[in-house]
Amino acid sequence: MHFNIISIFPEFFTSPLNTSLLKKAIEKNIISFSFINPRDFATDTHRSVDDRPYGGGPGMVMMVDPIYQAIKSIPDPGKIILLSPRGKVFNQKKAKELSKLSKITFICGRYEGIDERIEEILDIERISIGDFVLNGGEAACLSMIEAIARLIPDFMGKLESTEYESFFSNLLEHPHYTRPAEYMGIKVPDVLLSGNHREIEKWRRNMSLIETFKNRPDLLESANLSPEDYKYLREKKFKFLGRNLYVGLVHFPVLNKDGKECAVSLTNLDIHDIARVCKTYSVSKYYLITPIEDQKELARRLIHHWIDGPGKGANPDREIALKIVRIIDSIEDAIDDIAKLTGQRPYIVTTSARDEGDLSFSNLREILEKRPIFLLFGTGHGLSKRAMDMAHGILRPVRPFDRYRHLSVRSAVSIIIDRILGDCF
Ligand SMILES: C[S@@+](CC[C@H](N)C(=O)[O-])C[C@H]1O[C@@H](n2cnc3c(N)ncnc32)[C@H](O)[C@@H]1O
Repeated sequence: MHFNIISIFPEFFTSPLNTSLLKKAIEKNIISFSFINPRDFATDTHRSVDDRPYGGGPGMVMMVDPIYQAIKSIPDPGKIILLSPRGKVFNQKKAKELSKLSKITFICGRYEGIDERIEEILDIERISIGDFVLNGGEAACLSMIEAIARLIPDFMGKLESTEYESFFSNLLEHPHYTRPAEYMGIKVPDVLLSGNHREIEKWRRNMSLIETFKNRPDLLESANLSPEDYKYLREKKFKFLGRNLYVGLVHFPVLNKDGKECAVSLTNLDIHDIARVCKTYSVSKYYLITPIEDQKELARRLIHHWIDGPGKGANPDREIALKIVRIIDSIEDAIDDIAKLTGQRPYIVTTSARDEGDLSFSNLREILEKRPIFLLFGTGHGLSKRAMDMAHGILRPVRPFDRYRHLSVRSAVSIIIDRILGDCF
């Protein structure tokens, strides 16, 4: 594999390419490098490669022509990659794909970046190495080269060393230990000293599953999991984030179609479906909020049917879900109940299809790590001003950039809970 590096700081690469495995790979001709400095293609006496940005603003921009000439000077540049925080984020899958090529040319930006027109003139792929900003593309380029080169056959002594690594099968790697067997009173897990290779393999797989489940649950979606893996994860007694979440379905005070405050009747479907969603996502309690006596009685009868009545035996799953429902007079009473259950006043969040909202789904996830959240949903035409005013924050609506977003409250609850908790820990 041959790497062409376009950079105004070629010396940046001297030490890394003269160290360890990269150095050995160069010596063995597995990889090779050429450096092209855009300054060599500058036309003024100062060898300038940058100029002020059109439209004003801070910093300088790398001019298109020295970069273009630098690329054109390479006889066969192969795939051209521009390092940029505005690119798609690099990952192991991309590293694997790029490791199959024979030539790659990297363009390392500096200053505020490179004149955009270079990407219109040439076929260039923009890649970022993460959601942060570096001083220049050189460090990003080196990271990519290391990740790509180590996947080239013969680069590593045994290629199998990459097979069990993080991301190889969309799982994070298991933890490692070496001598001494005990350090500061902390022992290496017994199984690793047992010499039982089957048990060691099993332990490593399970640790890998747990690491991924806890830290990068997003990876599990495309991980290759066996029935044993699912079984192992289900049997773990994980404390899910949902345990800090409390959902309230408000039937008063809500709005009617004329925008006036009113009370709305309970709906059987809302009771069942929302309870089932809440249970599925480990939400602690689902409050049915109505001060109207006959409505409360109706809800009690309905829930009784499934928990203690004839429905109990007929559909035990329903009993499990409906057991988390609490029928309560008001939002205030529900807040007091949560405070009693948890020892903490909950953070109150309202939902609305109309408001832009000031909280994102990830904001809620962060809050859930620290304190309970009471998430309120309105029936009728939505929560009244009085209910909205009780909140610490308003959650952004589902589909904020679409004009039509009139979901049933059942659907809104499902989508919102999934956006907050997903399949995560
Ligand atoms: C100071 S940065 C320019 C940042 C640019 N003004 C922006 O906000 O998108 C200078 C150069 O560093 C490189 N760079 C910075 N952060 C990067 C990242 N996360 N991934 C890849 N390259 C990066 C790019 O080549 C970029 O042109």
